[in-house]
Amino acid sequence: MDQYCKDSLQERVSEKILWDCPLKSFTTFRIGGPAAAIIRVRNEDELQRVLRFITSHGIPWRVIGKGSNLLVDDNGFQGIILILTGEFTDIKWKRLQQQKLDIGAGCSNRAVAAFCIQHGLSGFEFCAGIPGTIGGAVIMNAGAWGASIGEILESVDVMTVEGVKSYNADFFEFSYRKISNLPEQGIITAARLHLVTDTEARIKKRCEDLLKKRKVAQPAGLPNAGSVFKNPEGESAGRLIDSCGLKGLRIGDAQVSEKHANFIINHGRATARDVTALIAYIQERVRKKTGVQLELEVHVVC
Ligand code: EPU
Repeated sequence: MDQYCKDSLQERVSEKILWDCPLKSFTTFRIGGPAAAIIRVRNEDELQRVLRFITSHGIPWRVIGKGSNLLVDDNGFQGIILILTGEFTDIKWKRLQQQKLDIGAGCSNRAVAAFCIQHGLSGFEFCAGIPGTIGGAVIMNAGAWGASIGEILESVDVMTVEGVKSYNADFFEFSYRKISNLPEQGIITAARLHLVTDTEARIKKRCEDLLKKRKVAQPAGLPNAGSVFKNPEGESAGRLIDSCGLKGLRIGDAQVSEKHANFIINHGRATARDVTALIAYIQERVRKKTGVQLELEVHVVC
């Protein structure tokens, strides 16, 4: 990126832009080469100004949340990574409209869950242990324990170069880990949830129980990107991989978790290449043994 572009971008945001910055530390997998720039935007004005500039200059870009579902290439991303921070992490709640919660796309699911407990709002419990942001959860219709975020969404705000527009949740035709009809080159900036009221104690207990179940079933501690594959219809990717005897299989520093076969963990120096090789091997073995073609749930950035 030439100096003119760099200066023009920096003028548009208040936070210092990180140039040529490794993405590794921005993903829970702790894998990934550099992005040309990482830009943290604090409000809609900044985002709109940056979006207009990069669109008109044809610079590739993408938004990341907490990087909890990403596999970033070892060569990184030749473009701009946008991170929504500042006002995008706000939660707004009007007491008169008790069941509605307006949440900035950069807000973490964990913060939303804590807010819901504190204010006696129920419906979000299933999301409490899902790492990442609300924007990320909407983009992939994140779910757990038989529920998914699409079911509790009322509307979603999307920014394009034209400005911000609010869409009813129905517009997106949510399906398993999928959102449809998202406007091209659109960025989710906020989501409005409809919840129900309950007591703080009951909501807290449900969150804690689910977090405990998650702790028992899924690996924690070592870097990973959550479920690697989507569950095929009526089946569990973890069970299929496990049935092929692949738990513990290791390529370089990437290993199929011994605890849950649909997780790949990074022992420290895993590269995207190691993970990709492991993914291809798993897909091949599962396909040969069961006839099922496993589809990636993690998003690849390259
Ligand atoms: N199983 C095995 N071996 C394994 C893993 C699982 O036999 O190595 C069996 C389990 O015993 C269970 C079945 O497979 O009978 C399903 O496993 P689990 O209950 O762990 O659920 P899952 O289908 O693997 C899904 C989501 C998780 C979510 C849990 C809980 C997907 C791909 N995964 O996992 O979401 O936390 O249900 O609701 O949809 C994520 O998306 O990143 C994620 C972690």
